[in-house]
Amino acid sequence: MCGIVGYVGEDYAVPILLSALERLEYRGYDSAGIAVIEDGKLIVEKKVGKIRELVRALWGKQYKAKIGIGHTRWATHGAPSEKNAHPHTDERMEFAVVHNGIIENYLELKKELENEGRRFSSETDTEVIAHLISKYYEGDLLQAVLKTVKRLKGAFAFAVISVHEPDKIVGVKTGSPLVVGLGKNENFLASDIPAILPYTRNVISLDDGEVAVLTKDSVDIYDFDGVPVSKEVFVVPWDILSAEKGGFKHFMLKEIFEQPKAVADTIGGFLSQDLSFPFDLSKVNRIVTIACGTSYHAGLVGKYWIEKNAGIPVEVIYASEFRYADVPVDENTLVLAISQSGETADTRFAALSAKEKGAAVVGIVNVVGSSLDREADFTLYTHAGPEIGVAATKTFTAQLAVLYLASLLFARRRGRIDREEFYKKVELFSEVTKKMEKVLELSDQIAEVAAKYKKFKDFLYLGRWLNYPIALEGALKLKEISYIHAEGYPAGEMKHGPIALIDENMPVVVIAPQDRVYEKMISNLEEVLSRKGRVISVGFEGDKVLKEKSETFIGIPEVEAEFSPLVTVIPLQLLAYHIADQLGLDVDQPRNLAKTVTVE
Ligand code: AGP
Repeated sequence: MCGIVGYVGEDYAVPILLSALERLEYRGYDSAGIAVIEDGKLIVEKKVGKIRELVRALWGKQYKAKIGIGHTRWATHGAPSEKNAHPHTDERMEFAVVHNGIIENYLELKKELENEGRRFSSETDTEVIAHLISKYYEGDLLQAVLKTVKRLKGAFAFAVISVHEPDKIVGVKTGSPLVVGLGKNENFLASDIPAILPYTRNVISLDDGEVAVLTKDSVDIYDFDGVPVSKEVFVVPWDILSAEKGGFKHFMLKEIFEQPKAVADTIGGFLSQDLSFPFDLSKVNRIVTIACGTSYHAGLVGKYWIEKNAGIPVEVIYASEFRYADVPVDENTLVLAISQSGETADTRFAALSAKEKGAAVVGIVNVVGSSLDREADFTLYTHAGPEIGVAATKTFTAQLAVLYLASLLFARRRGRIDREEFYKKVELFSEVTKKMEKVLELSDQIAEVAAKYKKFKDFLYLGRWLNYPIALEGALKLKEISYIHAEGYPAGEMKHGPIALIDENMPVVVIAPQDRVYEKMISNLEEVLSRKGRVISVGFEGDKVLKEKSETFIGIPEVEAEFSPLVTVIPLQLLAYHIADQLGLDVDQPRNLAKTVTVE
């Protein structure tokens, strides 16, 4: 939640800050702001709404500052308003702060500072940081920040600049993400890598408990006691082109179309990764998968594959539920923590608590160097490239690829399949990308389906077995970008309650490839029809029975039953996309959401 950036160098800071903020807008877009130091003075500009409002407000103001910080907000403390927008300053406008995360003890600190005579101008938790730094400043910004950090509780990252040291940005990370980008005579700070990709691919990922001090010629990292820390620089494998729209109307559509490549790259990446886990896989007697949202749905599909191929029982739990429940895990439990961003607070904290109980944690992560990547005992990577659309698409199918391959790897390590069988199955699985390509050709047809159904207010999605999680995912996609109410359900459960909802105003999306549960799906479809439900079905293209029984039929190429989720999900992503687009909604940045949720 919220994106922060910083620039210090030889170029004008404002255009760089604005362009970096635009690439972080997926993290929040309630308001935006920048602070720069020009002629020894702090200048703060803020605007409610998206970055473009801030850009408009800055037209014609030719700031020449070469240092600054910026912020795009997803409101937690205080409504979206100009006064609550970041950067926040002390009363004397000597220090400006941008912040991501939550200061849990801010009320107590605010009271203390008010009692000392300091006046606050916002309802945010962030403002206490600016006041504390001002209180502790005695000629050394780093020392004032270190003193401040010791007073703060919570998970957060922030950046600060000061008129007293106008060549310096200090950034702090504990809980929320923060990376340093290294340039020539310039350096950057950002919540996420895409923000700085046009300028540099040389990055340092800060760990929790670290402070970075940036000038145009130097980057120094310290721990919270002020002890210097040496850090590795890594070169980001993505280029800026992969983070731009490339001719597509929206990032989401581009990312849907990138799925065959994302899956192929993920398979290639998996096969070339050194897979020596730092623990003994043969001792694992149980797997607990923790994840949120779309990543959770990937985990549900993975459960079927791992149980079938490796014979290990798998439990899939929402990360936010895991942390505060008493789920038994021990040194024989493998915890799979799935998160495309690697920064989702619920997933990270659940993984850390499982680690404390002795479980081995394997992360499935898209962002190399993210917090979960570094906190897990081992990471399996999805190679989907940066995903900018708030609705996850290509990272979902890439997660499925990792989970399928992991199920084979576990099977092999436990002696259930040999090397030859492993590679045979991988080869067969790789064929799925061709089927995914074919389904993408249905985009225009699905746009027509969207036009027909976009006026409906409620949808039901039904699937069984491997396609039950796909029903959940289809419904989530529709909800989050179209704001249409949708429920995903295991088709067999419909008769235990939701069937009461069915009438001619409730389109029912039935996912029914010809697999071992096909006959049962047809029976469930009949139940819908006899209650005047409108059926939109997704099934194999030659399936005349399904076609005849459906008001609308979306035919996909035949695919091995086991791999069907990678194919069936695409029409559902496209349906949600086209409905949202035709309703004129903001597909890439739906209301109330943020791409990465770094608060609990
Ligand atoms: C997906 O479309 C959603 N935006 C959301 O549910 C997301 O999958 C969830 O927040 C988890 O994110 P993560 O994979 O980065 O942890």
